[in-house]
Amino acid sequence: MSTTTFSSLQVSLLLSLFILTSLVAVSAGNFYQDFDITWGDNRAKILNGGNLLTLSLDKISGSGFQSKNEYLFGRIDMQIKLVAGNSAGTVTAYYLSSQGPTHDEIDFEFLGNVSGDPYILHTNVFSQGKGNREQQFYLWFDPTMAFHTYSIVWNTQRIMFLVDNIPIRVFNNLESIGIPFPKSQPMRIYSSLWNADDWATRGGLVKTDWTKAPFTASYRNFKANACVWSSESSCVSLSTNSLQTSEWQNRAPNAAERNRIRWVQQKYMIYNYCNDFKRFPQGLPAECKRSRFL
Ligand SMILES: *[C@@H]1O[C@H](CO)[C@@H](O)[C@H](O)[C@H]1NC(C)=O
Repeated sequence: MSTTTFSSLQVSLLLSLFILTSLVAVSAGNFYQDFDITWGDNRAKILNGGNLLTLSLDKISGSGFQSKNEYLFGRIDMQIKLVAGNSAGTVTAYYLSSQGPTHDEIDFEFLGNVSGDPYILHTNVFSQGKGNREQQFYLWFDPTMAFHTYSIVWNTQRIMFLVDNIPIRVFNNLESIGIPFPKSQPMRIYSSLWNADDWATRGGLVKTDWTKAPFTASYRNFKANACVWSSESSCVSLSTNSLQTSEWQNRAPNAAERNRIRWVQQKYMIYNYCNDFKRFPQGLPAECKRSRFL
């Protein structure tokens, strides 16, 4: 008798655990539901019932995927584990982009390296077709050992790039001084793994070692708290939870985060277009003066 009671308690515990975990999985997104594989044939794979996606690159082709939805503002999180070992020559691009010649784009690009040498995280912002706003960083961890979270917060006031929830870059809306800001073209999420050994590693000096192919990058825990664009030119907020919505709509770096950005920029930034006087002999882009550390 007591054994029966015990096991039914166990069963209900297990059941509630099961319900809890399945709720978490749904809110974390599912690759089958949210993305299409766009190129590379079977080099791109959705695994574990939609919880994991892998891209691979071999001598013949790379691979890529894109989101089914287009978004206009939001917070987008993705966990990525980059190509391990000798990844020199490979580039893993993860970005938001709209379409057409005057497109907007928010970029993360990971430039591989030989074993033990650091990846470069390359970032850029395009508004109305114009980019040239590169900032590059080393990371404070090995991005091939484990999954790390790469996030884009995009609201009407600013774009923030975050790594494991640490902001590394902010692009402010400075339309007031005539700088176009991405705010009316909905963007899709794209990612691809490809060969760029003509420029990626030490400026193209180190080539891809094809004896190490296929190269693989992995993705999981996609989360979009964002406005999904619909053809009726309206924006439907994905999250009904107002706490989640305020997490991005008014998101700005607080004092502690501004300190973190300075820390990242002082210790890990290796290129900033805003310091490249040679490249802009006529004067730095106007936004550079306004956002000294951001
Ligand atoms: C690769 O390692 C070299 C040597 O440490 C470094 O100069 C370079 O910035 C690293 N990253 C890339 C992508 O070239």
